[in-house]
Parts: sequence; C-alpha cells; structure tokens
Amino acid sequence: DKHFNRSQLLQGKKVVITAGPTQEKIDPVRYFTNQSSGKMGYAIAEAAKQLGAEVTLISGPTSLQYPSGVKVVAITSAEEMYHAVDEAFTHSDILIKAAAVADYTPKVVYDQKRKKQQDEWSIEMERTVDILQTISTKKSPSQVIVGFAAESEKVVEYAKKKLEKKNLDLIVANNISEVGSGFKGDTNQITIIHRNGEMKPFPLLSKQEAAFRILEETMLYMKKVH
Ligand code: CTP
Ligand code: CA
Repeated sequence: DKHFNRSQLLQGKKVVITAGPTQEKIDPVRYFTNQSSGKMGYAIAEAAKQLGAEVTLISGPTSLQYPSGVKVVAITSAEEMYHAVDEAFTHSDILIKAAAVADYTPKVVYDQKRKKQQDEWSIEMERTVDILQTISTKKSPSQVIVGFAAESEKVVEYAKKKLEKKNLDLIVANNISEVGSGFKGDTNQITIIHRNGEMKPFPLLSKQEAAFRILEETMLYMKKVH
C-alpha cells in the first residue's frame, strides 16, 4: 500500500529543510517578522524523517514542537539562517527552502529600547542576503535545491521566474490568496514546477499530505536527472 511504498523512499539521503519566519531586530524589544507559522516546513521535516532521511531542520521562531528524530538548528534572523544553511548544505543531498525569509532588515539596531518621541519614526531597511540565490551558486551536480514561491497573483509566472533566477531544480508555488492556502492554516494549494517547465498542480491538501507529495516529486526528479 501507499505507506509501505513510501517507507524507504529517502533512505540514506541527507535532507536540509528551512521553516518558519525570520525575525529582524529593531531594538531589544522590537522586531520585524511575517505571518509564517512554520507548519509547511515542519511537515516536510517530519515526512522526510518518516521516509528514512537524515533530516536537519533550520527553523526560525515558531510555536511548533520540534519533530523527534530530527536535528534542529534554531535561528532568529535572515543572516543567521544564511549561515546555518551554508554550513548544512555542504553535507546534504537535498535542500528544501520552505522558510519565509525577511527580504529587509533594519539598517541600524538600537542597543537600548528606543524611547517614543514627538515626531514620526521612519526605520531605514536594507536588503537581506537571498539565501537560495547565493547557495545555489555552490551547488554540486548531484545536489537538488527546492524553493518555495509565495504569491498572491500570477502564481505560476512569478514562480517560474524565481526558479530561473535562483537556479533551482524545483519550485513549490503557493497561492497565498486562495482560501485555505498559505502561511498560517493547516492546508495548502501547491503547484510543483520542474526546471524543465513540467508543472504539477495539486488540489487543496493538508500540509502533511503536501509534504509527502513534495518529497515524492523531488525523488522522481532526482531519478530522472541523475
Ligand atoms: N528566500 C531566500 N532568501 C531570501 C528570501 C527568500 O532564500 N532572502 C527563499 C525562500 O525561502 C523561498 C524562495 O526564496 O524558498 C522564494 O521566496 P519569496 O519570498 O517567495 O520570493 P522572493 O525572491 O523573496 O521575492 P518576492 O518576495 O519579492 O516575491
Ligand atoms: Ca520574499
């Protein structure tokens, strides 16, 4: 049956998964973040472990329990996530980047809590490093990188652009404007796009089921190209 077939799919594979949001510090009591719950990434980590993989989960701050039997690296900022991914990727076969990394971080971090003042407050932000784009330049031919694309419009078009720009093997496009799909809930509507343009839309699935589909699709891809 399904579960028997799934049982050893990732035996011997080292899989690195990122999950959750990042937090970008403003001062000792304030930060910027986003709506990511971490559920999709944690579900992939859990599924990969069940399929026999050696799993490293690089996680931003979430309210979820760490999955058992998985190595967890807890990080806070985009910068920290970059260093953790860089380190873990060297020894891995597959990188799956489900995390919602902050695109900007405050230029100045105050050492002390900033006191309120009479006038307005503008915070200058600078770009964070694009982790996927940087890491994919260090990819060996046997390594596979899977990205995510959170889009509210032109989902497939934008996802394809990201796949090319970041030199990915696969991208999981995620329609965050669809009911029941996206950052916070327990379900997701995903379309998996291959490097060669092949496209697989899936119905609304639980994040657990979506996780298995993403891993199965990744293994199919690896068998085809390697
Ligand atoms: N990503 C990353 N490093 C960043 C930003 C994003 O590695 N600094 C990764 C995410 O983990 C995800 C993919 O890139 O796998 C796409 O993230 P997304 O936010 O959808 O795309 P961006 O390239 O940031 O573009 P935009 O937010 O403008 O749509
Ligand atoms: Ca982004």
